[in-house]
Amino acid sequence: MTLRIGLIGTGWFSGVHADNLAAMDGVKLTAVCGTSLEKADRMARRYGAEGYEDLDAMLDAGPLDAVYICVPPMAHGEIEMKLIERGIPFLVEKPLGIDTGLPEQILVRVRETGLLTSVGYHFRYQHNAARLKEELSNHTTGMVLGRWMDSMPGVSWWRRQSGSGGQFIEQTTHMVDMLRYTAGEVEEVYALYGDRVKRSQVDGVEVADVGTVTLRLASGVVANISNTCVLPEGGGLSQTGLTFYTDRGIVDWNPQRLQLAAPGVTTEYTEQGSPYVRETEAFLHALRTGDRSRILSSYEDACRTQAVTCAALVSASTGKPVRL
Ligand SMILES: NC(=O)c1ccc[n+]([C@@H]2O[C@H](COP(=O)([O-])OP(=O)(O)OC[C@H]3O[C@@H](n4cnc5c(N)ncnc54)[C@H](O)[C@@H]3O)[C@@H](O)[C@H]2O)c1
Repeated sequence: MTLRIGLIGTGWFSGVHADNLAAMDGVKLTAVCGTSLEKADRMARRYGAEGYEDLDAMLDAGPLDAVYICVPPMAHGEIEMKLIERGIPFLVEKPLGIDTGLPEQILVRVRETGLLTSVGYHFRYQHNAARLKEELSNHTTGMVLGRWMDSMPGVSWWRRQSGSGGQFIEQTTHMVDMLRYTAGEVEEVYALYGDRVKRSQVDGVEVADVGTVTLRLASGVVANISNTCVLPEGGGLSQTGLTFYTDRGIVDWNPQRLQLAAPGVTTEYTEQGSPYVRETEAFLHALRTGDRSRILSSYEDACRTQAVTCAALVSASTGKPVRL
């Protein structure tokens, strides 16, 4: 049986998921919902799907086995609730929203209904993430330093606090999620944010452009994850990743490779293949068989990452540590 998939959002990342689905057997993108019929139709035509500008109309039109939600952080809420009411499983892009209130309300309904969900924390699906977890199980980690140092994304919602929630919630959430995935739960955060460049450079910037967040983990590990969006575009300047300082050496992970440095010997593993493809394969497998074990980030788990990134914003605003 061919799985029928709907897609909400017609932007950059919808295209990534749509292309991956189009390249797979036994699944078809049948419906696309956008903020205008014109945008929805334009995208739908590329995949032989129907375009809609109204979500109810898309859901009424025909049976869907699942929906991909690829909208900006501020546009969540009604979409998830409608899918839950209709019992339609969804894969939602991170972050879950711009705060914790709405995701928690959605989580209550996800739990009550037992709906199948997956969240787009794709780094968990990298081969080097599995290898990193395995490696760390043989180390005692002392501390972790993480980073997302980049330029500012061009989309207008990103620079508004009420659009994206800011860089730590929108982007650096990936690093917080990988920290939780590999080193365990976070118990306390303390954050300092600042505005150095972007407000005077680009109209409408409300979000902080530098920030550093210190985190205490349940294991006793101390971590710091810093981010900035002040770097100039292009030229490959961006730096993302986590560095673990352990009793056996330095374990440095980034999306491209995993490097293990022990006294006198350094080993490197280069990442191969697409974690987005593996993320979708895991979701489709769960839809077909009911086996959710390959899904590495559920809505419930992603809520815990959201709680950490939102606590950092509270800490940065109040100047006080926040316990989770
Ligand atoms: N996992 C990843 O690696 C990754 C990468 C890029 C983006 N993302 C996430 O995907 C999401 C979308 O990012 P993007 O880069 O595609 O943004 P984008 O601005 O390119 O596209 C967003 C789309 O959502 C549409 N939209 C907004 N509100 C809507 C609504 N209520 N109903 C239907 N459509 C609506 C907009 O019209 C636009 O087409 C963000 O949350 C982002 O963080 C994840």
